[in-house]
Amino acid sequence: MNTKIYKIDLENIQTEYIKEAGELLLAGELVAFPTETVYGLGGNGLDASASQKIYAAKGRPSDNPLIIHVADWESLLKITKDVPKAAEKLADAYWPGPLTMIFKKGDQVPYETTGGLDSVAVRMPDHPVALELIRQGGGYVAAPSANTSGRPSPTKARHVEEDLSGKIAMILDGGSVGIGLESTIVDFTESVPTILRPGAINQTMLSEVLGEVRLDPGLFEENKKVPPKAPGMRYKHYAPKAELIIVEGEADAVSEKIRQLVSEKEAEGLKVGIITTEESLTKYPFGVAKSIGSREEEETIAQNLYGILRTYDDEDVDIIYSESFRTPKLGQAIMNRLLKAAGHQIIDLDAESHRDPAG
Ligand code: TXA
Ligand code: MG
Repeated sequence: MNTKIYKIDLENIQTEYIKEAGELLLAGELVAFPTETVYGLGGNGLDASASQKIYAAKGRPSDNPLIIHVADWESLLKITKDVPKAAEKLADAYWPGPLTMIFKKGDQVPYETTGGLDSVAVRMPDHPVALELIRQGGGYVAAPSANTSGRPSPTKARHVEEDLSGKIAMILDGGSVGIGLESTIVDFTESVPTILRPGAINQTMLSEVLGEVRLDPGLFEENKKVPPKAPGMRYKHYAPKAELIIVEGEADAVSEKIRQLVSEKEAEGLKVGIITTEESLTKYPFGVAKSIGSREEEETIAQNLYGILRTYDDEDVDIIYSESFRTPKLGQAIMNRLLKAAGHQIIDLDAESHRDPAG
C-alpha cells in the first residue's frame, strides 16, 4: 500500500486534507494523526474490521483493547453505560486533554475494539488536527499509539513512517507532539476510580477533582501476584533494542557509578549509551551520552524520552545506562515508561550504601 503523507500547517490547517483523511476512516482505512500525547493510529472504532486492521498493522495482540477518541461529551454518552457524575466533573476539568476514562461499553462498540472486554476506554484529545479528524471521520476514532507493537511510541511523524509506512493509507504530519507520553488512564468501572496508567494528569490533579483515587496495584513491580489491569501494561512494551539499566541515587554518586560501568563495558568492546540531562552532560566524557532534556523543565524530559530510545536503536549501542527522573509532576509517568523500557533493571545506589555489609 502506498502511504500518503500530508504535512499539516497548524497555524492554518488544510481542511481538505483532514476531510480526505476522514473519508478514508469512513471507508474502513487507517490514518495516523498527531495528538497532544503521542501519534495515534486511527480507524473507525465502531467498525470491527477497521479495528482488526489496526491490530494487524501494529502487530499487536488482539486482546489488547483500543481507546476510542471522541470530539464531544455527547459522543461519549452514546457508546458507554453507567457514567458517574464524578467522570463528568473530571471531563469538565481536563477534557480535551491527556486523560482516558474507562466505562461499561455500549452495545454499538464491537468487541474487536475492546479486545473482548465489556468496558471501553474513551478520550477527547487536545489537538486541533485530531479533533477535526474525529468529526470528519464519523465521531469515534479508535487509536492506539502509532508504533509497531513493542517499539517506543511515536512523538514525530517520522517515527510513524519508520514503523508503519506501506501498511496504512495516510499519515497526517503535525510536527512534534507536545507531551510525549501517553494519556493517564482512569478506570470508572471500579468502586473507587483507579489509575491504570500514569500520565500528564497526575494523581494529585485527579484527587483535586475526585477525592480518593487509587493506583492499580498491578503497576508495582514488587506486586508480582496481581497483573496490571490494562492489558497493554502487562507487556514489556517500550523496549529499546539495547539492554537498558537505570542507575538511581544521589547525583554525583550516579554519575560516578555510570562512568565506572561505561569504562568496564567499553573495555569489553561494547558500545555504550548514556541517558542524562543538560545539567550533567559534561560529566560523561566516554560512551555515547545524550541529553534527554533539562531537570529544570521536566516537560522536556517527557517530550524526548521515546525519541532518545529510538535514536539509540539507530546507533546500535549494546547497552544503555540511564539516570532516573523522579521529577515532581511528570516523574511517576516518566519512570513508569522508563522502568518498563528497562525491564525493571535498576541499580539503586542508596539501597547499596545502606546494605548491611555483614548481611
Ligand atoms: O495518549 C494516548 O492514550 C494515545 C493517543 C494516541 O491517544 N493512545 C494510546 O493507546 O496510548 P494505546 O493503545 O497505545 O494504549 C491504550 C492502553 C493499553 O494499555 C490498553 O490495554 C488500555 O489502554 N485499555 C484500553 N481499553 C481498556 C479497557 N477497556 N480496560 C483496561 N485497559 C484498557
Ligand atoms: Mg501504545
